[in-house]
Amino acid sequence: MRPVRVGLLGLGTVGCGTVDVLRRNREEIIRRAGRAIEPVAAAVRDPARPRSCPVDGLRLTTRPEEVVADPAVDIVVELIGGLEPARSLVLAAIERGRHVVTANKALIAHHGNEIFAAAHERGVMVAFEAAVAGGIPVIKAVREGLAGNCLRQVAGIINGTCNYILTAMREEGAEFEAVLAEAQRLGYAEADPSFDIDGIDAAHKLTILGSLAFGIPLQYERVHVEGIRGVSRADVAFAAELGYRIKHLGIARRTGRGVELRVHPTLVPARELIASVDGVMNAVLVEGDAVGTTLFYGAGAGADPTASAVVADLVDVTRALTADPGNRVPHLAFQPDALADLAVVPM
Ligand code: HSE
Repeated sequence: MRPVRVGLLGLGTVGCGTVDVLRRNREEIIRRAGRAIEPVAAAVRDPARPRSCPVDGLRLTTRPEEVVADPAVDIVVELIGGLEPARSLVLAAIERGRHVVTANKALIAHHGNEIFAAAHERGVMVAFEAAVAGGIPVIKAVREGLAGNCLRQVAGIINGTCNYILTAMREEGAEFEAVLAEAQRLGYAEADPSFDIDGIDAAHKLTILGSLAFGIPLQYERVHVEGIRGVSRADVAFAAELGYRIKHLGIARRTGRGVELRVHPTLVPARELIASVDGVMNAVLVEGDAVGTTLFYGAGAGADPTASAVVADLVDVTRALTADPGNRVPHLAFQPDALADLAVVPM
């Protein structure tokens, strides 16, 4: 069977990680997906720029619309981030019948309703495992692994930069600004670090988790959002003295009034498992009526961990295509025709 061909929009850290993982684990991927998955084209800003992955065999272009329109491309992987032109490119790819894999949490949180409706209409798949908690397969866990549960709550450390900063403030007594600069140097922070420290990035991810957990449309504008700018070294130290950790959490919770979606610094008793999640790591706790409490832990950012999620989606889409092209897993955050009757309650 011919390989499934992938066109990448963006060949930065995650794009190169994806090419690396696809090449490094080629045989394993064939075993799992039933056929090879080959990157064939990539849209980049500067084709001459040195990259951390080999680009032989990849057609490089500065025009992302060429990748979207390329008849040789079966799956478009969107890794440029941000809202535009990502939204227009993803919609154009769907319109042309291409399947889409994206790591873009802002795009899904803000425009997912429109994108999933277009994908549903066109019968194509849109997969987004890498959009939440990097390498932790929490999208698949909530949507598939825990599909038999009535979920009560999804709560977690879903911004590694905030967790890295809060950890260093506690362990080293470091100042907020110094630790932020270090997180940026290590490549954890978003291009605009205010997305991390003001809670916006976590709110994007929580919007997606809330939609998956409770079958509600994506409603970013209903999330209560607080960041960590107001947390001082003294707050962190006092909390530790009293037996607590300050953790920046995203919480999606079913209540008697509807669904609560909130992102804010939270006092967590030090004995709780999630309190010991330090540094850039992420952890997501999911509570269901049948399974009880589960905790998913791992790297929430970085080239290889995020590529792990992108490639998992590529394998998933390839499997669905290979098994039965007429019977595709929709990969939606929710079923458009069967939304839960749950309001998101204002905080
Ligand atoms: N800036 C994000 C974080 C990267 O710190 O978690 C992964 O989404």
